[in-house]
Amino acid sequence: MKFFLDSANVEEITRVMSWGVVAGVTTNPSLVAREGKEFMPLLKQICSIVPGPVSAEVLSEGADDMVAEARELAAVADNVVVKIPLTADGLAATRELSAQGIKTNLTLAFSPVQAMLAARSGATYASLFIGRLDDVGACGLSAVAETVRNFQAYAVGTRVIAASIRNVGHVEGAMSAGADYATVPFRVLSDCLHHPLTDQGIEKFKADWEKAMK
Ligand code: E4P
Repeated sequence: MKFFLDSANVEEITRVMSWGVVAGVTTNPSLVAREGKEFMPLLKQICSIVPGPVSAEVLSEGADDMVAEARELAAVADNVVVKIPLTADGLAATRELSAQGIKTNLTLAFSPVQAMLAARSGATYASLFIGRLDDVGACGLSAVAETVRNFQAYAVGTRVIAASIRNVGHVEGAMSAGADYATVPFRVLSDCLHHPLTDQGIEKFKADWEKAMK
């Protein structure tokens, strides 16, 4: 499984890029709004920091308007992937964008059948929202696992992104389910990195070393 960072914060993105572990970044309108910056210059800046795919979401609603907005976003940098909500208009826009060679990330997928529709429209990625499914009493990880199985069974080329990740268990579950990517917020990625036994181990090695060198 590869990692994306789910963030529009330049400091977080710069920091995580230096770790060398993420393949790209996903943003959404809520994350961008939190930054209080103009969208297009921010997107350009993120794309210059990140060599891999950077997902940026359209806010338009009709298919034609989505396509027009997607083309503007895609013109910002070669690594932009346009995020499209999983609606009928979103599918029509994706079909057109895919024919134009523009990469898409069909977002707000909550069921395996929605994910299959995304794939059939030509989406490059389909994002399944684990945390938001858990919030309503469903099992987000099961939806990811079933989607992965379906895509394998039908030899679908669309990549599965496990999204709406809230904790380390979600990341581990996405990995076990066979997701191609997990898009992980900075806090959760930091939690994935840390383990109390690692910290204790470092302290013990240091203490043993210092004792022997006295
Ligand atoms: C996915 O691409 C979204 O940006 C994100 O994962 C949504 O997460 P949330 O449900 O925590 O807002």
